[in-house]
Amino acid sequence: MRINLIGFGVIGKGFARALVRKRTWLREKYGFQPEVVSISDVTGTVVSEGGLDLEKTLSSVERTGRVIDCPGAEEMTGLEAIREVDADLVVEVTPTNVDTGEPGLSHMLTAMEAGKHVVTSNKGPLALEFKRLTETAKKNGVHLKFEASAGGAMPLINLANEILSGDEILSIKGILNGTTNYILTRMTKEGTGFESTLREAQELGIAETDPTYDISGSDTAAKLVILTNAIMGKNTTYRDVKIEGINRITPEAIALAKEDGYVIKLVGTVENGELEVAPKLVPMNHPLNVDGTLNVATFQTDLAGEITIVGTGAGAMETNSAILSDILSIFRNSRG
Ligand SMILES: NC(=O)c1ccc[n+]([C@@H]2O[C@H](COP(=O)([O-])OP(=O)(O)OC[C@H]3O[C@@H](n4cnc5c(N)ncnc54)[C@H](OP(=O)(O)O)[C@@H]3O)[C@@H](O)[C@H]2O)c1
Repeated sequence: MRINLIGFGVIGKGFARALVRKRTWLREKYGFQPEVVSISDVTGTVVSEGGLDLEKTLSSVERTGRVIDCPGAEEMTGLEAIREVDADLVVEVTPTNVDTGEPGLSHMLTAMEAGKHVVTSNKGPLALEFKRLTETAKKNGVHLKFEASAGGAMPLINLANEILSGDEILSIKGILNGTTNYILTRMTKEGTGFESTLREAQELGIAETDPTYDISGSDTAAKLVILTNAIMGKNTTYRDVKIEGINRITPEAIALAKEDGYVIKLVGTVENGELEVAPKLVPMNHPLNVDGTLNVATFQTDLAGEITIVGTGAGAMETNSAILSDILSIFRNSRG
């Protein structure tokens, strides 16, 4: 399988490292021999029709921080690489934008229109244009897979649509953002205020320099939309979600909740057709009460009852567990 890799940041590099690390295992276990034929970042593209030497590309980009500095790299954009470099599948891992979906939206549409499968961790395009993207995949007879976009390493979409395929999923409740869960956990355990706990999370590299997207609940909302559409067959968009973030939560509110046996968590909920992200009181002994940067989701199903899955929602290797699983599923499907 020939792959165009678009985006070479935390996840793109993690993908290359995972392939290097698991090359022999993938060949021996599945007969799977992926070749990354192009890698693009915002500066340019490096191409090798026969498959790039990933270790060399990684060490070159680690030295300079830019794909354009790799030997033989060209000023070719990711979009041009998708159009011009022959491949079966595009791994799209550029930054998320929930206002326009770009540049990921154009990358994904162009790839599928060119007959290429797409695997992505990029939430923005899916949270805005889910229907258009899935219809484009269908029309062109290709797969669009995005397990990594909601819940990182937790196999939520595949769990619901494959393993629980005989069940109707009636509602989803989840903690889908590790940064906010870390902040709320520390505030609960240490009795600290929001601002100082956020600063601590930034110093530890858990929160971004600009944490707005996480703190405001937008990141959770984008993931909730993806889960709702992919699992419940709906056509919602990011704009349908009622969103409240965590910046107004005080140590006093947390202490009061604690006295009554509750913790405050940022929970994304889809129930009776309504999508909401808001701080909620969760009983201390409830499965949704997970600590630190962990994520969790509970499905209410019609046959199996309640199913809860806990796991790591982000990280280079963890997210690539989902990306690799999607690619392998396409590989198995296309072999018949
Ligand atoms: N990090 C995580 O743990 C995690 C977990 C789940 C999902 N995700 C999602 O996965 C995606 C990638 O995340 P990340 O952490 O790897 O982001 P990142 O470190 O910021 O990397 C993004 C990469 O995309 C490149 N890029 C930007 N615009 C581009 C364009 N027009 N064409 C080609 N490349 C372009 C960037 O190039 P430059 O560096 O040259 O600007 C960079 O190489 C995001 O959508 C994110 O929301 C991330």
